[in-house]
Amino acid sequence: MPAPIQTSPTPTHRGQSQSIDLRDKIALLQGHWQPRVVAEMNDYQFKVVKIAGEFVWHQHSDTDETFIVLDGELRIDLRDASGGTRSINLQAGQMAVIPQGVEHKPFAQEEVQLLLIEPRGVANTGDGEAGARTVANDLWI
Ligand code: NI
Repeated sequence: MPAPIQTSPTPTHRGQSQSIDLRDKIALLQGHWQPRVVAEMNDYQFKVVKIAGEFVWHQHSDTDETFIVLDGELRIDLRDASGGTRSINLQAGQMAVIPQGVEHKPFAQEEVQLLLIEPRGVANTGDGEAGARTVANDLWI
């Protein structure tokens, strides 16, 4: 008997119906700025990432993006329509939702551990051409 064709990942492969330890997942991460998916909910993905230093200005035209700080202190610089900037500062246990289309730039003076929530397929560097800071998408850990 041939194996039945898998048309979609099993719930286990999508991280469902199981306990997921975010600290254990983060401990598996190699290096900074390399988000890895730990679970999906409908079309949304939960990604863990370690960051340090400064990222690039970017925006996501099609979606909001959620940052939840698990450890460390995160600053997110935001650019408004008039070109002015302001910052959000997040400590462990705090979160922010960046609206679609708003230019933003994460910054971590020291290492920050994050949980990101965004739709499947979102590029880490947002719209436009992929650059040196763009990484592969939909990689699980
Ligand atoms: Ni972003």
